[in-house]
Amino acid sequence: LQSASEIVIFGALGDLSRRKLLPALYQLDQAGLLNVESRILGVARQDHSVEEFTAFVVENLTEFVKEGLNEAVLARFVNRMVYQQLDFKDTVSYSNLAATLKGGHDTRVYYFSTPPAIYGDITDGLKSAKLITDADRVVMEKPIGNCLESSKVINDQVSRYFNENQIYRIDHYLGKETVLNLLVLRFANSLFTNNWDRNSIDHVQITVAESVGIEGRWGFYDDAGQMRDMIQNHLLQILSLLAMEPPADLSAESIRAEKLKAVKALVPINRLNVKEKTVRGQYSDGYLNGLPVPGYLNEEDANQKSDTETFVAIKAEIDNWRWAGVPFYLRTGKRMPAKHSEIVVQFKPQAHNIFKESHVDLPANKLTIRLQPDEGVELQMMNKIPGIASQMHIQENKLDLSFSETYENQRVVDAYERLMLEVINGNQSLFVSRDEVEAAWTWADSIIEAWQTSNEAPKAYPAGTWGPVASLSMIARDDRQWVE
Ligand code: BG6
Repeated sequence: LQSASEIVIFGALGDLSRRKLLPALYQLDQAGLLNVESRILGVARQDHSVEEFTAFVVENLTEFVKEGLNEAVLARFVNRMVYQQLDFKDTVSYSNLAATLKGGHDTRVYYFSTPPAIYGDITDGLKSAKLITDADRVVMEKPIGNCLESSKVINDQVSRYFNENQIYRIDHYLGKETVLNLLVLRFANSLFTNNWDRNSIDHVQITVAESVGIEGRWGFYDDAGQMRDMIQNHLLQILSLLAMEPPADLSAESIRAEKLKAVKALVPINRLNVKEKTVRGQYSDGYLNGLPVPGYLNEEDANQKSDTETFVAIKAEIDNWRWAGVPFYLRTGKRMPAKHSEIVVQFKPQAHNIFKESHVDLPANKLTIRLQPDEGVELQMMNKIPGIASQMHIQENKLDLSFSETYENQRVVDAYERLMLEVINGNQSLFVSRDEVEAAWTWADSIIEAWQTSNEAPKAYPAGTWGPVASLSMIARDDRQWVE
């Protein structure tokens, strides 16, 4: 049985809470994974009654729980709701929060879903109202700062009163079914475990493409850009799970230590090699599904002089025994043709071809891990075409494990559901340690600084395309190409 918890959401009326957190908690309740005693306390600046907050919750669950709502579960769920108005920066007002919190629970979870600049204020407020005990947990949403220095400030503020083992830094990609499956794929299959290195692998591609633009988030996004919004966290987390050494076990300590080593081994990219190893792009006017969409500079509220990147491609290299000479090509962008995220592991070709008579060059094996949508794993391999002819006809084919076909009727759990449950259960393995955040910023900062120094505008790509031509040239210089 899950422990009884008080879950306190700061920024409960915000976008993340509406779209992800409340639906995730509802799903946990539906699955019988919330203790009957657990309560959910929404905290925000605006003054609302519990009834108003409850109506807000129901409205958003109706919109965002795709499978539809179950009346009995909904009744139970809204019964858990409490609301507290709070001025986040006013330490004194936290005594009101103290009065609303019931206590007597096994764990209390503070979920910070506000701009990170006020994580410190909230921590101070909680401390002054004597609301922090060793049993409490705090969940921090990304972005934790916008560079190494600012991330340190935020982490310092929060860790004044919470220990590292109480702090859960969210990277929701770690809660995705297919990302988690990387551990199983790599470490439960000797075929891959034994061939996962420079001897067998030619290169790796990680693509996280989105068709959406910035969705009215100009204020946040224009300061961040795709490097800070996606590469520093989501793509580096995927990379570190792919590249890390086998952890001794599945504990948070073991997994996070290995991931950290992988990020630390990334070859720095700086002014000297930034042109050769990175491409920055920004979408211009274009078409998606046949309909015209505005370019980045023509989005609502846009600063028409912005040179923020909405696309990044990077040739990343890992300087260690396992990966020397094996590039990891990363690319991610907004307003690409489709929402499509996948990893391609390109193996090295056969050293010798005994099928020359068949006039076929033997293409190398390729493992594709489809992260989303259409989750699955695909292995490209050679096969004989059935037939009696004495000369063998051979062909490239694929073994395709589609999750929706193999696990029919199995709901794909949203990342936030899993992560919420892990917080309640007190397991940090799917959360990012402070050291990892800092190592990732160190690598990303150096690239951002090199871009700033070069002062080059991002390269335009029409909305609805796979990024600037320069991204194709970057990989073509190595005699390779992006897998589309
Ligand atoms: C968020 C970014 O962390 O991840 C967004 O801030 C991005 O810009 C989103 O759209 C992508 O997440 P997902 O789960 O839709 O791939």
